[in-house]
Amino acid sequence: MKVTVVGAGKYGSTTVQRIAESGACDEVVMVDIVEGLPQGLALDMMQSRSIEGFSTRIVGTNSYDETADSDVCVITAGLPRKPGMSRMDLLETNAKIVGGVTKELATRSPNSVLIVVSNPLDEMTALAAKVSGFPKERVMGQAGMLDTARFKHFVAEELSVDPGDVDAITLGSHGDTMVPVPSQVTVNGKAIGELLSGEKVDELVEKTRDGGAEIVALLKTGSAYYAPSSAAAQMVFAVLKDTKEVMPVCAWVTGEYGISDVYLGVPAKLGAGGVEEVVELPLTDGELSALREAAEAVRSKQADVDQLAG
Ligand code: LAC
Repeated sequence: MKVTVVGAGKYGSTTVQRIAESGACDEVVMVDIVEGLPQGLALDMMQSRSIEGFSTRIVGTNSYDETADSDVCVITAGLPRKPGMSRMDLLETNAKIVGGVTKELATRSPNSVLIVVSNPLDEMTALAAKVSGFPKERVMGQAGMLDTARFKHFVAEELSVDPGDVDAITLGSHGDTMVPVPSQVTVNGKAIGELLSGEKVDELVEKTRDGGAEIVALLKTGSAYYAPSSAAAQMVFAVLKDTKEVMPVCAWVTGEYGISDVYLGVPAKLGAGGVEEVVELPLTDGELSALREAAEAVRSKQADVDQLAG
């Protein structure tokens, strides 16, 4: 099995490291336009193998030829936000970059599953689907896994419990119309409403929505990458190992939740074929209308992206 990760920045290289150390595939190719960067990082990671005890090969390169016949390609290429920027401010610049990268990947790995993480996420996923011409189920975006992990973190911190005791999910866009879903949050099986006031839950929902921006403001340069790379790697594992796990991802929706023909954050069953099924959860009326609102917001932006893709 072979995985390509495009972009050797913090997000890309940490994703490569997580995948390589897991031993889930034989080879990980890391591509970047900066000369020497992917090669140097790959060499460094390869030299950790005898200590960490994994045998995955890591190839760093500036060319796409080494990516041929990948099973999964992760696209992290593009600029991250600066403090004060919204993810949407990256739209035009990253559309050009992600469009170009997708073309290179699609011709060399025509049967791969594409996982997009570049921002603005929902729009870049739609763009990669359009440019690659792949069936929609083989193109998805990473955001819901990350936003869900952040939601779980904030709930766990508030209640001083282990994050593993919290069950939660976040749907909608990876932006202002993100939809953390309080009705689905439980802590050791107990509904969140029995443990925290509605006001407190709203506060945690807001913190989740601003989770990425909070880190961008602290770092001052670059955006988050530890939790984002964990999220992306987990999706890669589900595809490589054909696990059929249900994860919140940005997927093409065809009628589920009464929403059609748009890339949106929804729970999806992942396997070797990519998104094998969009799962419908019982949502409250308020959550459902927030999800539909998110769908309309990303639909109009995805139409703009279609034009950028040409
Ligand atoms: C974040 C970026 C990676 O949410 O979108 O941290």
